[in-house]
Amino acid sequence: MDEQEIKQIYQQFVVGSYKRDDIVFVKGKGSYLWDIKGKKYIDFFPGWAVSGLGHCPKNVVKSICRQAKILMHLSNNFYHPWQAQAAKKIIDVSFPGKVFFCNSGAEANEAAIKLCRIYGMKNSRYKFISFRDSFHGRSLATVTLTGQEKYSEPFKPLPEGFSYAQINDFPSLDVLVDEKTVAVFIELIQGEGGINVVKKEELEKIRKLCNEKDVLLVFDEVQTGFGRTGRFFAYQNYGIEPDIMTLAKTLGGGFPVGAMVAKNSLADLFVPGTHASTFGGNPLACSSIISVIETINSEKLIENVKELSVFLKEKLEKSRNKFLIIKEIRGIGFMLGMELNVPGEKLVKICQGKGLLVNCTHGNVIRIMPAINIKKPLLKKGLKILEESLKEFSLKF
Ligand SMILES: Cc1ncc(COP(=O)(O)O)c(C=O)c1O
Repeated sequence: MDEQEIKQIYQQFVVGSYKRDDIVFVKGKGSYLWDIKGKKYIDFFPGWAVSGLGHCPKNVVKSICRQAKILMHLSNNFYHPWQAQAAKKIIDVSFPGKVFFCNSGAEANEAAIKLCRIYGMKNSRYKFISFRDSFHGRSLATVTLTGQEKYSEPFKPLPEGFSYAQINDFPSLDVLVDEKTVAVFIELIQGEGGINVVKKEELEKIRKLCNEKDVLLVFDEVQTGFGRTGRFFAYQNYGIEPDIMTLAKTLGGGFPVGAMVAKNSLADLFVPGTHASTFGGNPLACSSIISVIETINSEKLIENVKELSVFLKEKLEKSRNKFLIIKEIRGIGFMLGMELNVPGEKLVKICQGKGLLVNCTHGNVIRIMPAINIKKPLLKKGLKILEESLKEFSLKF
C-alpha cells in the first residue's frame, strides 16, 4: 500500500474520532521512527508515553515473542505464573497491596471508581472530587471524572456525583468535601492539562484531609508512572502514598495493558463477581509487564532519567532565555512542558519537518517526554532540532 492508499482507506473505513498529523509511520526502534518515505524522526513523545522504553524495546519484544509461543491468553477463572509474577513485581516497586489487571488507563480508573463506590456503600458515600484540567480517560465515568468539559459535553447526562477543585488551591478542594465524598482523584503532574505539577505542601494537606475524613486518595499514574519522573512512580517524589493507584501506558512497553493497585484492605472489597476484564492480565500482557519492570531495574533507567533530566531542563531553560515566545519550562524528570506565549501547533509542525516529534497540549504547551532509556547524544541531537525549530518559529512572530 502506498501513502495515498493508506490515507484513503482510513478515510473510508476508520472512524474519524482522531485528529491525525499527515505522516504515515512504518517502523520504530528506540527513540527513532521512520515514515513511509524513509524519513527518520527522533521521537520526544513516544506514543503518548506508551513507548516509554522506546519503540520495540528489545527485552519486551523478546519476552512477548517467547510468550506467544507458550500461552497467549487464559481466562481469569484459572491461574497462570505470569500474572502472579507481574503482580508481585508491581507491588515490589510500589506499596503493599494487590493488583487488578485490565487493558488501558480508562479501565484502570474505572476499576478504581468502582472500588471506591463499594468502599463508600456502608455509609452511602458516592461522590468523587477530581481537578480542573485533569485527564482520566474516555469511558463515561472517567470522562466525567476528567475535569475538562470539552471531553464530556456531548455525552450528557453524565453519571452523578463528580465535582472539580483547582490543583494547588487547597481551599477549592476543602469546600467540596462533604459527608457523601468517598474519594479524591489526582494526577501529580497533569499531562493533558499542560504539565501542571502538584506542590508537595498541597499534597500533604490533601493526604491529611483524606485521612481525617476517611476519604480515599487515588493517584492516577497512567502517564507519570514507570520512571518518567526519575522515580518508579511520581508519588515517590513526594513521600506520600495513595490508597489506590492507576497505571497503564509505559507499564506494557507498547503492549496494551492497565492496572489498578489498591491497599490490601480496599483490594479485598473486590470479591468474585464484583469486577472483571476478559483480557485483563493475560499471559502475553503480563510477560510484557514483567519485562518492562526488569528492564527498568537492570538497565538503571531511573538513574538515566535522574541524570539526563537535569541536562534536559538546563537546555530548555537556556532556550527560554533566548526565545521570548517561551513563557515557562515546568515539570519533573522526563515529563516537561514548555509553555509558549503563542499557540504551539505550528512549532510542532516545524519540528516534524526537521525530523523531531513533540506534542502540543492545552493549545500552547509543548510536551517533551522522551523515552526513559534515551542516551545523551540523541537527546542533544533532538534538542538541537528543537532549538532550530524555535528559531524559525519565533521569526514568524
Ligand atoms: C493521566 C491519564 N489517565 C488516564 C488516561 C487514559 O488512558 P487510556 O487512553 O489508556 O484509556 C490517560 C491517557 O492519556 C492519562 O494521561
